[in-house]
Amino acid sequence: MAARGTTKRASAVAAPPSCSCFARFVFLASFLLLVALVYSAASPSIIPRYDDRLKDPPARRGDRLTCNYSDGSWIPEPETVPSRYDHTCKEIFKGWNCIGNRKINGRDLLRWRWQPSRCHLPRLDPLRFLHRFRDSNIGFVGDSLNRNMFASLVCMLRSASGEVRKWRPAGADRGFTFLNYNLTIAYHRTNLLVQYGRWSASDLGGPLELRGYKQGYRVDVDVPERSWAEAPGFHHILIFNTGHWWWAPSKFDPVQSPMLFFENGLPLLPPVTPEIGFSLALRHMILYVERRTTMDTMKFFRTQSPRHFEGGDWNLGGSCRRTQPLLPHEVEELFSTKNATNAEARVINRHLYEVLHGTSFHILDITRMSELRADAHPSTTGGKMHEDCMHWCLPGLTDTWNDAFVATLEDHLGN
Ligand SMILES: *[C@@H]1O[C@H](CO)[C@@H](O)[C@H](O)[C@H]1NC(C)=O
Ligand SMILES: *[C@@H]1O[C@H](CO)[C@@H](O)[C@H](O)[C@H]1NC(C)=O
Ligand SMILES: *[C@@H]1O[C@H](CO)[C@@H](O)[C@H](O)[C@H]1NC(C)=O
Repeated sequence: MAARGTTKRASAVAAPPSCSCFARFVFLASFLLLVALVYSAASPSIIPRYDDRLKDPPARRGDRLTCNYSDGSWIPEPETVPSRYDHTCKEIFKGWNCIGNRKINGRDLLRWRWQPSRCHLPRLDPLRFLHRFRDSNIGFVGDSLNRNMFASLVCMLRSASGEVRKWRPAGADRGFTFLNYNLTIAYHRTNLLVQYGRWSASDLGGPLELRGYKQGYRVDVDVPERSWAEAPGFHHILIFNTGHWWWAPSKFDPVQSPMLFFENGLPLLPPVTPEIGFSLALRHMILYVERRTTMDTMKFFRTQSPRHFEGGDWNLGGSCRRTQPLLPHEVEELFSTKNATNAEARVINRHLYEVLHGTSFHILDITRMSELRADAHPSTTGGKMHEDCMHWCLPGLTDTWNDAFVATLEDHLGN
C-alpha cells in the first residue's frame, strides 16, 4: 500500500515535460529527506504531536505506513488500564458483557496491551476521532463479530459524546448519529454478504434434482444481501467481514441442508464446495462494492476472528476457560490446520488474501492478535446452553481491533 501511494505521487510529478526545475525538485526533496532522517535518528525521544505536520519528519510517517500492526505480542500492564467505556454501555449485547456477568477475569482483560513488534499502536482517542471524522458515515458490514467491533466503537464514542440519534441508516440493523459531530456509525447485518434462502427440490425436476438434491440453501454468489446493498453508496468508510457462517454445519449441513450455489440465477454445475463458493461470492461482492464507490471511500476487509473451543467444538462441550493469553506455541497447537476444531480461521484468511490482492480494499488483519486471546471470550458467562468461545467480551479485544482500524485509517489518510 505504501508502494502504491509512492507510485501515484511519483507519476504525478513525472507527468509534466522534463524541465530543469524537476531535477532541482528531486535534489531538494532528497536533501530534505536526509535532513529529516538525521533529525529523527539524532533525537529518537522526540515524538511528533499528532496534528503537528511540519515537525513530523517524513521518515517517521514512512515507518508508520510500513508498520505491521498485526505482528506483535500482548504485554501485561501492572494495573488495569482505564477503559474508554464501561460495562454500563447500553450497546453491549448482554451475552458479551463479561464484567456485568461477573466473568472471573472480566476486568483483567483490560490489563493486556497489544505491542506491535516495530512500532506503537496508538489508543483510539474518542474525542479526537469524533472531530476528525465529523460529517461522515462509517458502516460495519458483516456477521455478529463485526457487530461486536461496532459495539466497541459506539461505546467508546458515546462515552465522549452522549447526544445521539438511534436509527437505521441505509437498511442497517442499527446505527447512531453523533449529533454534535454529524458522524454516523451503522451496523449492517449479513452472514454471508450474499443472499441466501431455503431451497427444496421442485416436482418439475432440474439439474440439482437430477443429482439427487432434495433440500438445502440456495446461495446466490452474485447478489448482495439486501441489508447492506445500499451501504456502499451511503458510507465513506466501510469495514466488511464474513467467515464463520461458511463453515457452520449446524445450519448448512453438507448432507441435510447443503449450500447450493447459484450464479446469474442458475445453479453452478457441477456443484461446488463452500470453500469455492466463498471465494466466488467474495469476488462478486468486491466488484459490487468497487463499482458503487469512489477511490475516496475507504474500504476495509477485516480478517477472520478465531474461535477458541478446546476439548471439542461448540456443540460437543468445547470450552475456553483460560484466564491468560495463549503462548505462541499453544496458538499453533490450537490453530494448526491439522486440528479441525478451530481450523477455519486460517483457511478463510488464505482465500481473503488471495481475492483481495490488487483490489482497492485495505486488509485489517486482526487474526494473529486475536488467536492469542483465548481468555477474552464470554465462555460460560455468555448466557447460552454452550460456552461462547467465538464472540468477545466488551470492553475487551475488539477495542484493540478498533485501535488498529483507526491507526491504519489515519496512516492512509495522513494525519
Ligand atoms: C504482518 O504480521 C502478521 C502476523 O505476524 C503476518 O501474518 C503478516 O504476514 C504480516 N504482514 C506483512 C505484510 O508482513
Ligand atoms: C452531515 O454529513 C453529511 C455527510 O455524511 C453531509 O452530506 C451533510 O451536509 C452534513 N450536514 C451538515 C448539517 O453539515
Ligand atoms: C487439537 O486441539 C485440542 C484442543 O482443542 C488439543 O487438545 C489437541 O491436542 C489438538 N490436536 C492436535 C493434533 O494438535
